[in-house]
Amino acid sequence: MHNHKKTYRILFVCLGNICRSPAAEAIFKSFAEKEGLPVLVDSAGTSGWHEGEKADSRMRAFARKHGYEITSISRPFRRSSDFDHFDVIIPMDDNNFYDLKEQAGTIEELEKIAHICDYLTGTGYTYIPDPYYGGEEGFVLVIKLLEKASARLVAELRERLSEK
Ligand code: 4NP
Repeated sequence: MHNHKKTYRILFVCLGNICRSPAAEAIFKSFAEKEGLPVLVDSAGTSGWHEGEKADSRMRAFARKHGYEITSISRPFRRSSDFDHFDVIIPMDDNNFYDLKEQAGTIEELEKIAHICDYLTGTGYTYIPDPYYGGEEGFVLVIKLLEKASARLVAELRERLSEK
């Protein structure tokens, strides 16, 4: 994690990969690009229920209103390759966190799983609430929390890049 030329590979994970993690992918990517940070960003679901689908149309509409284009197609988390492929895996809530932890086969894999609460201090939230069954304020909240978390994550990665 101390190489100046390193591209950070970050995977956001939620349950369906149609609301929260696709939003996280788009918002974080936008923040990182503005900072010129070398990142590769993707998202996945702990379930494959919506595999092959675009993100939820409500999530896409609210994201667009706030200036983010969500283009990802839902896919399930792949234990056999995602732990290898990504440096940091960020689940959106505790269920996703424990689900991923159960799938980790080594200490190294376990250590790649971050907790979103570390990026949400001061917001009053320790996870990204699932907006799927609720009203529009839930989608706006997801965006606000993910903007906060993305700013923090970008700052952390910038710090790591300047270390040597
Ligand atoms: P997400 O939201 O995990 O943020 O993508 C959900 C999407 C779909 C379902 C639940 C949550 N579902 O039950 O199908």
